[in-house]
Amino acid sequence: MATITFIDPEGARQQVEAEPGKTLLEIAEEHEVKLGSACGGVCACSSCHCYIREGLDSLEEMEESEEDRLDMGFDVRPYSRLGCQVKVPGDPEDLVVEISEESIATWYNEHPEHRHEQHKKGVPA
Ligand code: FES
Repeated sequence: MATITFIDPEGARQQVEAEPGKTLLEIAEEHEVKLGSACGGVCACSSCHCYIREGLDSLEEMEESEEDRLDMGFDVRPYSRLGCQVKVPGDPEDLVVEISEESIATWYNEHPEHRHEQHKKGVPA
């Protein structure tokens, strides 16, 4: 098991235990972490865009399809990845994953019942 710390754009942290082989998106969904997934996790958008703050070197290299999709993202950085394409490795290192603003905004669009929190927190719509 690896420990994954998700950080939202405002710095709030949520730490979860994760099984190897699962994607960051699957883990986020299991633990109610606000990681967007407009295409449902099939690498057809960039709404699960996140930044791997720690543990990037322990992950598999990204495939061309992920690279192409990331090109559609905003504020892409050298340590950007798509949460639906990153699998927790078999020999896991702990990861620190920052959720991008576009991703959390998508999550709120997918969960309109939580929009009142979005306005309080100042997350862009
Ligand atoms: Fe669409 Fe990851 S959820 S690319």
